[in-house]
Amino acid sequence: MDRYAVFGHPIDHSLSPRIHQLFAAQTGEVIEYRAIDAPPAVFAQRAREFCSSGGRGFNVTVPCKGLAAQLVGECDAMAQRAGAVNTVVVGKAGVLSGYNTDGPGLVRDLTVNLGVRLAGRRILLLGAGGAAAGVLGALLDQRPAQLTIANRTAARAQSLVERFAMPGVLSAVALAALRRAQSIRQFDLVINATAASLAGERLDLPPGLLGPGAMAYDLMYAPEPTPFMQWARRRGTDVAVVDGIGMLVEQAAEAFALWRGRRPQTAPVLAQLAARH
Ligand code: ATR
Repeated sequence: MDRYAVFGHPIDHSLSPRIHQLFAAQTGEVIEYRAIDAPPAVFAQRAREFCSSGGRGFNVTVPCKGLAAQLVGECDAMAQRAGAVNTVVVGKAGVLSGYNTDGPGLVRDLTVNLGVRLAGRRILLLGAGGAAAGVLGALLDQRPAQLTIANRTAARAQSLVERFAMPGVLSAVALAALRRAQSIRQFDLVINATAASLAGERLDLPPGLLGPGAMAYDLMYAPEPTPFMQWARRRGTDVAVVDGIGMLVEQAAEAFALWRGRRPQTAPVLAQLAARH
């Protein structure tokens, strides 16, 4: 049986094994997929062991995506730009090829599952760490009118702006400046890519950031609405508020397609996971 895995730390609550088993059942592929705990210090060693014992591919999650980019022999353009790898294919000669399916997964969830048009829209991306870098390229490829990166540490947002260089579209702002601004800029889509939700921390954003009919999207998924989602809900029913479960399933489908050569349907898997609430 072909073996796959997800590496990360912590990894106990990962939904990836369940998602890939559902994909396998749907497509008739026979695979094993398990979660392997990998603190950063031992990630490379555990990943190499997995490959040398016959592993065919693996996913990588927080906090090892940057390390995975260093581990692989080659990267696709999306992973290269992000400096982060979330999917690895083990080639016949043992060569590791790295991909980043987070950005395409997010864009597909937004545009296909949620029916959001990104071209010409005003997007606010909160955070400038690995999660933000991982989705930035795919968002820019959709040609938004503006994409503003707001981060607690402004310099990190600025360095992403320089790396992805799209003058007139991409800009950086300090989270504190966004809070203090006299006149509030409104956005069509606000994406939370900070780690604040993980810690259950509030971002203290001005409520007026969300324009009429806007969407608030938390890359994180959790059984309970995150503080970011609670903030957005206070704007009223005019604002759509979603978590990252759709992105999780879509990025997994992209990974499955890279490994098995066929893309599973995501809607039935999303419906099965939704039933968990
Ligand atoms: P990840 O790979 O999950 O993105 P990361 O690279 O450590 O992790 O980045 C975490 C992001 O969440 C950063 O943008 C961080 O802001 P700083 O760059 O200023 O550290 C942001 N972040 C974490 N906790 C936060 C909080 N309580 N409020 C605002 N931003 C927070």
